Amino acid sequence: MKVLVCGGAGYIGSHTCVALIEQGHEVVIYDNLCHGSISAVDHIRQLSGASVRFVEGDIRDRESLEAVLATGFDAVMHFAALKIMSESCRFPLLYFDNNVAGTITLLQAMQATGVQRLVFSSSAAVYGDPDVVPISEDAPLRACNPYSHSKLVMEQLIEEVCDARPSFSATILRYFNPAGAHPSGLMGEDPCGVPTNLMPYVSQVAAGLQERLHVFGGDYPTRDGTGVRDYIHVMDLADAHAKALQLLRHGGCHVLNLGTGRGYSVLEVVSAFEHVSGCRVPYEIVDRRPGDVAEVWADPSRAEKALGWRAQHDLVRMCADAWRWQSMHPHGYQSAQVIELRQV
Ligand code: NAD
Ligand code: WQD
Repeated sequence: MKVLVCGGAGYIGSHTCVALIEQGHEVVIYDNLCHGSISAVDHIRQLSGASVRFVEGDIRDRESLEAVLATGFDAVMHFAALKIMSESCRFPLLYFDNNVAGTITLLQAMQATGVQRLVFSSSAAVYGDPDVVPISEDAPLRACNPYSHSKLVMEQLIEEVCDARPSFSATILRYFNPAGAHPSGLMGEDPCGVPTNLMPYVSQVAAGLQERLHVFGGDYPTRDGTGVRDYIHVMDLADAHAKALQLLRHGGCHVLNLGTGRGYSVLEVVSAFEHVSGCRVPYEIVDRRPGDVAEVWADPSRAEKALGWRAQHDLVRMCADAWRWQSMHPHGYQSAQVIELRQV
């Protein structure tokens, strides 16, 4: 299939582009580079050996989107969003404009150009504080901050379009906690500064870029008192996206959890990271982070059934690949640019 990957210069989108090309698809990347990097696009080209077209553009720019989509596509993958919860609480309108208004414009442009298939990046954040774990797709949805609220509204928009237009099909993928990097070490998560998520923060502590990890809460009702999450390797996510394209051939609107079905505590992540990196990760237990919950992990059985997919990589592999990326790119993609400039 020919696929427009909106947000393809970002963390999950870039890994998915490589997986799609490896499986015989053609991709065009559309990204405004507000968080993604042109170096990620170069590395996609390098790893896949394909001459991938890149269009710098915003999903809120309907004219630009339609001009690209009019060249003919079988499907769109929609990764383009702002995703930092704390930032969304400070700038709710920015999040609704970028994420929700952007999705409306994308859906309009798809309709205008006759592109009928969509794979959408949603988040376990739509479940909020779950009543039970593992979480199934039928669990109550409770958006607790502007970011997760924007994801929920985006899901609802897509479902409404599916209901209104039987020819339109979509797969909504709710990721749990993405982690890890491409095994080459050439692509990974670039937090663009001080990370807010656990795994990139732990990586920076191991690399000596941060002094110590602040563990948010040591008094949760979990096995060691720290928060438990379902970490999933970005390469497993990428593979699930490629499989989701096949599901779209059958029509309808599908909502699927993408997780491993297993949770790890913060201290278990620290211990696994120390083991693979051989570096110490000093930490200090501090107050709980507002809005955090004790335990979140997925029931991934619906995705297994619908996609014939199951996560293949364990926590040790996620830490090992994250560490390789961190070691090769201590300052994210900026490191690559500096090295490239030195070579000119
Ligand atoms: P990312 O920030 O690395 O990638 C997002 C990409 O979208 C970036 O390249 C950015 O430049 C681009 N983008 C943002 N707004 C845009 C706009 N208006 N027009 C064009 N491009 C735009 O984030 P990621 O971790 O790769 O996340 C991808 C998607 O997955 C997001 O929708 C996010 O909400 C969702 N998600 C991420 C996580 C996570 O922890 N990483 C978890 C669950 C869901
Ligand atoms: C994981 C655990 C923290 C940082 C969010 C969204 C989710 C997805 C990923 C977008 C928690 C603890 C963290 C630190 C810590 N994003 N922690 N010290 O909050 O589970 O998930 O980001 O959709 O949908 O909800 O991820 O990586 O921030 O935290 O102790 O410096 O690590 O308290 O228990 P979270 P996280």
